[in-house]
Amino acid sequence: MENTLHRLAKDLANQSIADFFAQDVNRFDSLSLSAGGFLLDYSKQYLTQDVLNSLNDWAAQQGLFNKINAMFKGDKINHTEGRAVLHTVLRAPRDVQQAILGQELASEVAATDRRMAQLVETLHAGELTGFSGKVFTDVVAVGIGGSYYGPKVCHEALKSYRQHKLNVHYLANVDGTAVVGKLEKLNPETTLVVVISKTFVTQETLLNATALKQWLLDSGCDNQQLNKHFVAVSAAPEKAIEFGVAPDKVLPMWDWVGGRFSLWSAVGFPLACAIGNENFELLRAGAYEMDQHFQTSDFLNNMPVLMALIGIWNCSFLKYNSLAVLPYDHLLRDFPGYLQQVDMESSGKRVDVNGEEITLAIAPIVFGQEGTNGQHAFMQLMHQSHQVIPTEFIVALEGHSQFIEHHRVLVANCFAQSEALMQGKTLVQAYDECIANGLSEQQAMTLAPHKVMPGNSPSSTLVFDKLNPKIMGSLMALYEHKIFVQGAMWNLNSFDQWGVELGKQLGQTVMKVFDGEQDSKLSGSSQGLVNLFKNKHNL
Ligand code: F6P
Repeated sequence: MENTLHRLAKDLANQSIADFFAQDVNRFDSLSLSAGGFLLDYSKQYLTQDVLNSLNDWAAQQGLFNKINAMFKGDKINHTEGRAVLHTVLRAPRDVQQAILGQELASEVAATDRRMAQLVETLHAGELTGFSGKVFTDVVAVGIGGSYYGPKVCHEALKSYRQHKLNVHYLANVDGTAVVGKLEKLNPETTLVVVISKTFVTQETLLNATALKQWLLDSGCDNQQLNKHFVAVSAAPEKAIEFGVAPDKVLPMWDWVGGRFSLWSAVGFPLACAIGNENFELLRAGAYEMDQHFQTSDFLNNMPVLMALIGIWNCSFLKYNSLAVLPYDHLLRDFPGYLQQVDMESSGKRVDVNGEEITLAIAPIVFGQEGTNGQHAFMQLMHQSHQVIPTEFIVALEGHSQFIEHHRVLVANCFAQSEALMQGKTLVQAYDECIANGLSEQQAMTLAPHKVMPGNSPSSTLVFDKLNPKIMGSLMALYEHKIFVQGAMWNLNSFDQWGVELGKQLGQTVMKVFDGEQDSKLSGSSQGLVNLFKNKHNL
């Protein structure tokens, strides 16, 4: 089947996306799909019905249906860590949770949800106070990677759904400047710190949490009162307690919830603090709706599957190895950053589950930012360089502000970009344009080549009505599943991240060398850089 796809990719050489539209006036209708509050227009992709049929056959051949079921029912598909991958169960109704997790574990999940919701309620009711007896006004969520991106991206997206005047902040970066920046905005007497770490050994998170602890102590909080200011979310509750968090303020998570898919667990606590329990439940409901669509729809009518198959077609067969994600929605401007983690940490692999090398490019480099700003930055390269960069546009039909004209301009830009990327501009068109602008023939011939755009750059556009908690949940689940399928098709484990672990190990090594230990494994370059730092700080 892969050979067929390679052949089909070659066959496309003499046709363009624009040709497909000329041949089929109904292309938009046949190559668009609605689900979970979204319309996906994939008619501007560089593919034919034959390509889609072959991708569909290949998906069947790869056992995709069974792989999807295996994930949902809790098989240990993260085989390198011996874990199930069950973030989906956290947004499922209680009876489904019981069927999959069993009575005991399902009760633990339900109890954790209740505790989390109660904590949100008591905070909102002003019943929790800090060391000086003042009511908490601010929550700082300390966590990194999967313990940060999910809540943060939803927090920004759902700002207008903020339910309470409690301010929620996030601290991820292990950079003193970031800590200072947060502390400047906060009053220690009224700040609750939520330490989010699945393992509770992550260096960045623990250092930041310790800095906040010291800040509280320096501000007059004594040791006995300190635990009033801390909540933790962790799959290692004993470590959180050892850190100083009161046992009744530790919300558990489980090893069967992957970090970058953990928003749906108590990792979402800071988000629930901001948008309220009801909206948090709507977020979960939106994700559950997408889960059901994903589990039950046939592949070519299944939005996450289709997006993944198209992504693989672009990356592995057409050899376009990057993907621009461009939300035309200010509230979604953090979404590409979130997606970089969830996609590239999941799919950035080189071997399949059997340890066999996969020789084709598996998944793209993901990048992006809010669309209009991207237009005035990297999109020049997308229009005119030799590199073809497929794009996913994300746009709301309705905005959140009263500036109606702004929204018209925003949406017009989005639609225009996908058109420009597809149509491009030929030399003849560029030349004629120059002549029409009053240039001489000689001037037109000189200038025209600079105005040529090859076009034929594929894109999809994901349209929704208006951003709300349910849509946001659906969007997050859509991409989670897209990424799962991307991995499943190449038979890889999307749920480990050994590359990241190597960075963590070597980080420890360098720290030891700072402290005077010798390490012959460090290269001359790194040793030179270490010496520079040590000289600067007289180490
Ligand atoms: O970024 C790498 C990573 O391993 C992620 O998978 C994880 O979400 C993050 O570190 C933080 O880990 P923890 O939640 O254990 O602190």
